Amino acid sequence: MADKILVAYASRYGSTAEVAEAIGDELRKAGDEVDVRPANEVSDLSPYRAAIIGSPIYMGKWLPESQVFIERYQQLLRSIPVAFFAVGLTVEEGNPEFLKKAEASMDQVRMLVKPVDIGLFSGGLDTGRLSFADRTIIKLIRTKTGDLRNWEAIRAWARAVRPMIGPA
Ligand SMILES: Cc1cc2nc3c(=O)[nH]c(=O)nc-3n(C[C@H](O)[C@H](O)[C@H](O)COP(=O)(O)O)c2cc1C
Repeated sequence: MADKILVAYASRYGSTAEVAEAIGDELRKAGDEVDVRPANEVSDLSPYRAAIIGSPIYMGKWLPESQVFIERYQQLLRSIPVAFFAVGLTVEEGNPEFLKKAEASMDQVRMLVKPVDIGLFSGGLDTGRLSFADRTIIKLIRTKTGDLRNWEAIRAWARAVRPMIGPA
């Protein structure tokens, strides 16, 4: 029976995985059965009555894993409540221009599946762990670094989105 909630995510350095875990944890605390899984490891959506799907933003876009997941399962995802979230370092600025850009990272997936809600969260970046290519890009775009994740904002969103995606 489809009675669980899926939280599916992409993550290059792990910060979005932890955001997904926090969302899952908050839903479990409220009594839901939840699986938190990397999007590219999910192949069966039949256990799920709802899905929350997220990605970090890289150069203005979602990572392909979450994008491909939505493309692949779009038909089924259109038949259950779905929410999206994006994690990025520019989200923290609180500047409408930055927020608009962060939201635009979801434009493509929103054309395929209409979410009941979207979450935008500031991310985290440990420059010591970046690949050479990513470090070069970060230097060029001169963004802020460090862990800017606001756990209370993430958990508050999970609580707010819960009534929008169920219960069944
Ligand atoms: C190469 C690179 C490009 C990035 N581009 C953006 C961007 O366009 N917008 C944004 O808000 N954050 C951007 N970020 C920040 C990441 O979205 C943020 O650090 C996120 O928390 C990383 O998630 P992860 O640890 O799950 O991979 C970028 C980070 C890197 C390393």
